[in-house]
Amino acid sequence: MNNNQKALIKATIPILQSSGEVLTDYFYKRMFEYNPELKSVFNMGNQANGKQKHALAGAILAYAEHIDNPSVLINVLKGIGNKHVSLNIQAEDYAIVGGHLIASIQEVLGDVATPELVDAWTVAYNELAEIMIGIEAEFYLKNTEKTGAWNGWRNFTIKEIVSESDEIKSFYLYPTDGKEIATYIAGQYLSVQVFVEQLGLLQPRQYSLSSAFHPNYYRISVKKETALETQPEGMVSNTLHQMKEDDTVNVSAPAGNFSLQSIDAPIVLISGGVGVTPLLSMLETNQKANKNKTVWIHGCRNSSVHAFKEVIDTMEEESDWLETFLFNEDIEQNVESGVIEGRVDLKKCKEAILLENARYYLCGPAPFIKAHYESLVGFNVDKSNIFYEEFGPQSVSLN
Ligand SMILES: Cc1cc2nc3c(=O)[nH]c(=O)nc-3n(C[C@H](O)[C@H](O)[C@H](O)COP(=O)(O)OP(=O)(O)OC[C@H]3O[C@@H](n4cnc5c(N)ncnc54)[C@H](O)[C@@H]3O)c2cc1C
Ligand code: HEM
Repeated sequence: MNNNQKALIKATIPILQSSGEVLTDYFYKRMFEYNPELKSVFNMGNQANGKQKHALAGAILAYAEHIDNPSVLINVLKGIGNKHVSLNIQAEDYAIVGGHLIASIQEVLGDVATPELVDAWTVAYNELAEIMIGIEAEFYLKNTEKTGAWNGWRNFTIKEIVSESDEIKSFYLYPTDGKEIATYIAGQYLSVQVFVEQLGLLQPRQYSLSSAFHPNYYRISVKKETALETQPEGMVSNTLHQMKEDDTVNVSAPAGNFSLQSIDAPIVLISGGVGVTPLLSMLETNQKANKNKTVWIHGCRNSSVHAFKEVIDTMEEESDWLETFLFNEDIEQNVESGVIEGRVDLKKCKEAILLENARYYLCGPAPFIKAHYESLVGFNVDKSNIFYEEFGPQSVSLN
């Protein structure tokens, strides 16, 4: 890309800042009109609640802002690449997406989209697509090199379903072909694809692996997203909650860059609600291996929605390396002592979590991650030692 083209891209930053989501909203509508088959590839829940158009607008803006040196975005791009690979996105899909994106720029910006500007964005998109395709090719290759791994979708049978709380069920997924499965790093996720009756479409969603690796099965633990006044019930979580043992689902190989560092350092796990899942996998993995000093802080509404409490309590009783803090918003329903009333407040366990060289892992809703990330930074924890996973298209960008 030449300097003139870079200047044209930078000139669009104010428009992207003010109207980026108008562009991405238009882009998705256009793409699904011309290529309706892609509705099964995308998460239609994130289309309806606006999270995906927000994430894409953020990515396009970040790219425009760093057009002189896009390599600073490499970790973000690897995160997106992980998600793409987990959804079996292929190099040839980039031309379809690129075609709709460039056409959307022309159609939304009208006269502002001069031929030079359109050319500049075409070059910029193609350069980004090339970087993404390269990142994804590496991930696909790694999958072919790893024992038991596969690319694309593979059929798994749900052999066991366990209720972990009023709203969370664990699903034990065994490969229907009976062959080996791939290992994973604690913290990673799978994509699961099911048929959603109400849409008449297959739909994928990501679910964190919620246990330490077991060679025979993958375990995921899914919260049933119930309807609220302004929100319909979640499509895939409810479909899964209605499934029975021996039903099958399609699953993609483990992916994701939120993962337990295999180093000899204390671990601090901070979870909200169903954010417990990847951290439980980390905890179990640490129990099996290093038994590094670990502090777990968990917050949830009340004891009826507190999944895995017994497992973690037992582990704490039997070990000298684990300490836990539990926060409940709705303390009336709690008969137990030791539960702290209210939402997670790291000031209340500051001494316990400020351990030399510790690594901090956060998982929960976006405001939860943001608040506790900021608290940790306020306690002078180095940003490079804080890792987080958001259960949806990335909306917080903190490191
Ligand atoms: C890396 C990763 C790991 C994850 N791990 C887990 C896990 O371990 N366990 C787990 O339970 N979940 C996990 N999730 C979340 C999971 O992928 C799904 O997002 C979740 O199950 C909800 O999917 P759904 O199909 O039930 O809801 P969807 O149908 O996708 O709806 C999502 C939300 O959007 C709302 N919505 C839909 N339409 C509208 C509308 N028109 N207006 C306003 N709001 C609307 C719904 O009410 C719902 O709250 C993870 C996500 C990611 C990205
Ligand atoms: C350079 C081009 C692209 C960019 C910048 C881009 C950007 C993004 C971003 C930012 C996300 C959200 C990641 C997250 O979960 O945090 C995402 C997810 C996704 N992308 Fe892309 N993408 C590109 C190309 C493609 C292509 C070619 C396809 C294929 C059809 C595709 C399909 C998807 C899907 C299905 C998701 C998940 C959607 C969801 O969960 O709601 N993307 N992409």
